[in-house]
Amino acid sequence: MEVDRNPIKRKEETRLTQYKLRQAIKEDHDFLREMLYEAIYVPEGKARPSKDIIDRPEIAKYLSGWGRAGDIAFIAIDEDENPVGAVWTRLFDETNQTYGYINANTPVLSGMAVLPDDRGKGIGTLLLSEMINEVKKQGYSSMSLSVDPDNDARRLYEKYGFEKVGINGTSWDMVATLRENE
Ligand SMILES: CC(C)(COP(=O)(O)OP(=O)(O)OC[C@H]1O[C@@H](n2cnc3c(N)ncnc32)[C@H](O)[C@@H]1OP(=O)(O)O)[C@@H](O)C(=O)NCCC(=O)NCCS
Repeated sequence: MEVDRNPIKRKEETRLTQYKLRQAIKEDHDFLREMLYEAIYVPEGKARPSKDIIDRPEIAKYLSGWGRAGDIAFIAIDEDENPVGAVWTRLFDETNQTYGYINANTPVLSGMAVLPDDRGKGIGTLLLSEMINEVKKQGYSSMSLSVDPDNDARRLYEKYGFEKVGINGTSWDMVATLRENE
C-alpha cells in the first residue's frame, strides 16, 4: 500500500485544482464591480454599506474606464468556469491619485476579492502570486496597495513582501519591491 507522506499538502493541491486563473476581458466589468464591492472593508459588527458606495468617485476610480493602458486583471474560475474571485492593478498619476498611490510607474492593487463562500481555500493566494509575477514580468519594480490594518488580507500582503510606507485616513499604504529571480 502506498503511504501518503504529505497528506496536508496533497489535500491543498486537490482543493486548488478546482480553480484556475484567466486574464480578465472587457465583459468581466460587471463581475469586477461586484468584487470591488466585496473588497470594501467592513469592521466586525458594522453593517455593510449599500452597493452604490462603489459609485463614489474615490472608489469608482478603481474601475472607471476599465481596460485602459496599464490595467492588468485576473479572474479565478471554478470547474464550471464561473468566476469566483478577481485581482486587478492599475496605473494612476499625479493628477489622478488614489489610496495606495506611490508614483505613476507603480501599479496599484485596485481590487482583490473572492466570493464569500469561496474564501479561505487558497484562491486569494493564487490570485496575488500570479499578479505579482505578471507585474514583475511587465518590468515594474514595485507594486502598492491600501488596506485597513484590521483586514485579514493585510497578513496575506505581508506574506508577499508588502510593507507599510504610510497611513491615509485609517488605511495603510503598503509597497512591495519586486526583484527579478524571486
Ligand atoms: C482577502 C481575500 C481576497 C483572500 O482570499 P482567500 O481566497 O480567502 O485567501 P486564501 O485562502 O489564499 O488565504 C490567504 C489569507 O487570506 C486571509 N483569509 C483567509 N480566509 C479569509 C476569510 N474567510 N476572510 C477574510 N480573510 C481571509 C487570511 O489572512 C489568509 O492567510 P492565512 O492563511 O495565513 O491565515 C478574501 O478573503 C476576500 O475576498 N476578502 C474580502 C475582500 C477584501 O478584504 N479584499 C482585500 C481588500 S484590500
